[in-house]
Amino acid sequence: MGMSVTISAAAEQDAEQIFRLQYLCFQSEAALYANYRIDPLVQTLDSVREEVATDCVFVARLGDEVVGSVRGRVTEDGAASIGKLCVHPRLQGHGIGARLLRAAESALGEQRGAKRFRLHTGHRSESNLRLYRRVGYETVGTAEGADGVPMIVLEKPAGTYATTA
Ligand SMILES: CC(C)(COP(=O)(O)OP(=O)(O)OC[C@H]1O[C@@H](n2cnc3c(N)ncnc32)[C@H](O)[C@@H]1OP(=O)(O)O)[C@@H](O)C(=O)NCCC(=O)NCCS
Repeated sequence: MGMSVTISAAAEQDAEQIFRLQYLCFQSEAALYANYRIDPLVQTLDSVREEVATDCVFVARLGDEVVGSVRGRVTEDGAASIGKLCVHPRLQGHGIGARLLRAAESALGEQRGAKRFRLHTGHRSESNLRLYRRVGYETVGTAEGADGVPMIVLEKPAGTYATTA
């Protein structure tokens, strides 16, 4: 389809584009739960800047435009928490989300020593659950977001991501 989307580590100057992209992408989740106070919508630009500086953050780029993003960090229990995966609505359904996830897993596992990957999604977000299960995640429990949305927690062991493709 002639579009070349590249995945790379986010730079400091990407924070503002990530912030705006996340606000756009998570509107559909907000609508699904009739809750516009979900985390990705209320996060401040400063907080995104902080995450870009300290966490493992990747962006998908089409030319100069940031069209996708994901972040993760290793927590005290040795698992890496991955979150805020998003792809511009115009470009969803072309595998960019899966590529971002794979980039985050590989960096968190190989460079930051994560033993497991953990992520969560709203309990009614069927397409997110499908994507995560397809790449090897299994439900390990439930949680309630600060916003009150019931979440499903999924995990997979490190070392099970595809290193090719
Ligand atoms: C979740 C999200 C990041 C997925 O991004 P994406 O780029 O669309 O993800 P993918 O393209 O890898 O996978 C999505 C679907 O496209 C399909 N797909 C992937 N590559 C494809 C291709 N080349 N041709 C056709 N279909 C393809 C996948 O099989 C998948 O299908 P499914 O929905 O039936 O499971 C995106 O939908 C989004 O930003 N959603 C809003 C924010 C959100 O909810 N984020 C997750 C928070 S937990």
